[in-house]
Amino acid sequence: MIEHFDPSQQAQEHIQTYAKDLGTPPPAAGAAMVRLEIDGVAIRVPEGTSVLRAAALADINIPKLCATDSLEAFGSCRLCAVQVEGRRGTPAACTTPVTEGMRVTTQNERLARLRRNVMELYISDHPLDCLTCPANGDCELQDMAGAVGLRQVRYGFEGENHLQATKDESNPYFTFDPSKCIVCSRCVRACEEVQGTFALTIDGRGFDSKVTAGQGEAFMDSDCVSCGACVQACPTATLMEKSVIDAGQPEHSVITTCAYCGVGCTFEAQMKGDQLVRMVPYKGGDANHGHSCVKGRFAFGYASHPDRLTTPMIRESIDQPWREVGWEEAIAFAAARLRAIQAEHGRESIGGITSSRCTNEETYLVQKLIRAAFGNNNTDTCARVCHSPTGYGLKTTLGESAGTQTFDSVMQADAIIVIGANPTDAHPVFGSLMRKRLRQGAKLIVADPRRIDLLKTPHLGEAQHLPLRPGTNVALINALGHVVVTEGLEDHDFIAKRCDSEAYRAWRDFIREPHHSPEASEAITGVPAEAVRQAARTYATAGNGAIYYGLGVTEHSQGSTMVMGIANLAMATGNLGREGVGVNPLRGQNNVQGSCDMGSFPHELPGYQHVADPVARGRFEAAWGVTLDHEPGLRIPNMFDAAIEGSFKALYVQGEDIAQSDPNTQHVEAALSSLECLIVQDIFLNETAKYAHVLLPGSSFLEKDGTFTNAERRINRVRRVMPPLAGKADWEITVELARALGYPMDYAHPSEIMDEIARLTPSFAGVSYAKLDERGSLQWPCNAEHPLGMPTLHELDFPIGRGRFAITEYVATEERASRRFPLLMTTGRILSQYNVGAQTRRTDNQAWHDEDVLELHPADAELRGIQDGDWLGITSRAGQTVLRARLSERMQPGVVYTTFHHPGSGANVITTDNSDWATNCPEYKVTAVQVEKVSRPSAWQQRFDAFDRAQRGYLAKAQQEATS
Ligand code: SF4
Ligand code: SF4
Ligand code: SF4
Ligand code: FES
Repeated sequence: MIEHFDPSQQAQEHIQTYAKDLGTPPPAAGAAMVRLEIDGVAIRVPEGTSVLRAAALADINIPKLCATDSLEAFGSCRLCAVQVEGRRGTPAACTTPVTEGMRVTTQNERLARLRRNVMELYISDHPLDCLTCPANGDCELQDMAGAVGLRQVRYGFEGENHLQATKDESNPYFTFDPSKCIVCSRCVRACEEVQGTFALTIDGRGFDSKVTAGQGEAFMDSDCVSCGACVQACPTATLMEKSVIDAGQPEHSVITTCAYCGVGCTFEAQMKGDQLVRMVPYKGGDANHGHSCVKGRFAFGYASHPDRLTTPMIRESIDQPWREVGWEEAIAFAAARLRAIQAEHGRESIGGITSSRCTNEETYLVQKLIRAAFGNNNTDTCARVCHSPTGYGLKTTLGESAGTQTFDSVMQADAIIVIGANPTDAHPVFGSLMRKRLRQGAKLIVADPRRIDLLKTPHLGEAQHLPLRPGTNVALINALGHVVVTEGLEDHDFIAKRCDSEAYRAWRDFIREPHHSPEASEAITGVPAEAVRQAARTYATAGNGAIYYGLGVTEHSQGSTMVMGIANLAMATGNLGREGVGVNPLRGQNNVQGSCDMGSFPHELPGYQHVADPVARGRFEAAWGVTLDHEPGLRIPNMFDAAIEGSFKALYVQGEDIAQSDPNTQHVEAALSSLECLIVQDIFLNETAKYAHVLLPGSSFLEKDGTFTNAERRINRVRRVMPPLAGKADWEITVELARALGYPMDYAHPSEIMDEIARLTPSFAGVSYAKLDERGSLQWPCNAEHPLGMPTLHELDFPIGRGRFAITEYVATEERASRRFPLLMTTGRILSQYNVGAQTRRTDNQAWHDEDVLELHPADAELRGIQDGDWLGITSRAGQTVLRARLSERMQPGVVYTTFHHPGSGANVITTDNSDWATNCPEYKVTAVQVEKVSRPSAWQQRFDAFDRAQRGYLAKAQQEATS
């Protein structure tokens, strides 16, 4: 027996796992090792491994068709038949687990004959158009025909077959060609096991069986959410990307990170020359393990859209056409303007906004430019309008401004609370993982005004919906805390060992007060007291209780209070510091965690080091060679107010569309119009850019190197796939602007920026591109104490020593329903569009959502004589807009809902100036409105259209002049 392979060596396993399809998934971690022999080779693998996988790990490749390592074994094709000493017959290697001392034969004449017979049957019902098939060169059926040595098909091709079956081309991104289907059911299983949508079935029996979407519908009419898992799993050309059909098979690939949401999925960007042919989710991605959603998988066409800005432009005022100029002139123009304004109006009269869409390195450079070259702390980021309360609330209670777990931790959770988040739409790949755990039996509690899709998870076990009124989160979390304390459900051991006793006693006395009881708060929240009691018991007694929350928690006048209330509940029940528990903010944008980490806020240097801390500031001063301001600068809303009032005159905005994303649009427009110099660096002429004096064409994520940090604190590499369309990556533009301002920055590559970040930011001290390349990703803190990062926070203690319970008194928002504005409007996202939609609106994702609509309950509609599809005027104290009505039972009566993916919809024209007391995060989630049928766009929409037309005209004119 040759002792040549020991897959218990981790590194080897790691590399092999991602390099090839091992046929079946790995067994659960921690299993005992088993020894067996396959074709004379001695092998050691964990118990529960299939024979197919054990063989593949030892480079013995048993033919297979229905098995793939992302799916549980099914055993239908019989191609993987083997012989096992002492057993009768030819068991399927994919469904046969290894046993101690097993001796397996994978190759002999009998097995070869059997496999050839199987292949003959498949091939006799398969169009033999290999040379013109789009999968030519990437087809497992073709590979297996070769592997088994198929030389003839005795059954002929003339019998009954499926060769004339009609192709379904309804999905914008992939086709379904049933004539090529071998009914291996990999697609059906992928849709169930990986995605959790159950959109596909095998219809019929025997020869008549076929794959069907929904009830025999077209893919576009079925429940399919276009995640691509079935396309990924299909071994033939039956399910095929249209981009591959058009461009042909890719030639080379680069591993990079999705630039859409905070899940941070890793992809293989597969290329043909400089053309991106497809994005394939990478099995080695630590956040996604080979899964994807429609955005990252398919919606990459925006990167090469004709709307991309490719030349710098300048103008004197916003009512003038643009002039295309070279980089040097544009940068010199911007720098001269900034310096002139500071000379006239003072150092504080300018500022900048960093982007949560850009890389850590780029964000770091923008805040450095502002602090070191502008000489003030007027830096802020779009996290201001989403998760700034998370930073404040978690830092106050737990001592760290970040989620406590990995995504994978949810697989250990026994009870899951989801508050104000909609993971299946906004964080889809994590939503699929959560659904998997729910199918395994974890209990679900959803606190949300809407009945979100998670509650419709197929095969969902115990689930509760707490449909609270918008704006009453804190009353609900206090009621949950009240039940925990008064029913004796606390984890006294955890509290005694890990929490500050004085703060705990104060909180316990506070939360016990009768006005926090579920019975007393029912009148506020609208949630029946018994349901709240039940939810608290479920969470506190399940074993592992995990809380996931989103913008429905933070975007309130009490956003920070609610985050602290969540942390209180987790501490009181001991649900922190291990797998399966924790407090997890679901960050919206790809790098919102990173933009906060990188010092974007006016009061914090990178790594959340306060500007007033002389030691931290001194380190940055020494490294940057400047004296830094010790006073916090302006937040975004303060910048707007100061611009209108006249003391703030210039703004540099990198990759952020404040004119569309920030609340009270008319106020934002007034502020932007007041600026003497607005410099916008972006890939499109977005709404903010229409108010700009300098346009610097940015680069997409495909065009640069860097890192993004996802919602798990996971730092992932972004790798350049193609050259920047406008010639410069975003970090290079910031470097040049700094240089033109007389503050040289000297970096040859973004890795050097990361090295500087590591030197100055304790939680990043151990991060380098070399280590990221070696490990795939790292979760901060990554330093001398935790050289490989830290998947779970607070395992032994909190950064502030002991956890601090906070007092969280409920204070009703000023934004209430009244006779004039009787409905409460809340906002959110949908799966196919992303945030302000600048990217997804320039892709075929438009097929799913080409306009924002107002969802309202049929009872509210009937009261007002509104039918589905009617135009509705929606009026709030801040403004009015017009959207089409969509009647929906997902809403509770009295609550209406819309999205903000299309600029002309003006969702933020109606949101108000109310904001979180601690961080100024806007209260997007509660706006009192009235709706009525109307027949024309609002006055704002008419003004918007005219301004939009004029600005597009200026751009077109500049582009025409440049080419003539
Ligand atoms: S694309 Fe995703 S959701 Fe649609 S059928 Fe395939 S696996 Fe299911
Ligand atoms: S569509 Fe592809 S994955 Fe699905 S059954 Fe047919 S061949 Fe298998
Ligand atoms: S879940 Fe988020 S990160 Fe993953 S592919 Fe979708 S948009 Fe990209
Ligand atoms: S691969 Fe094992 S039965 Fe199909």
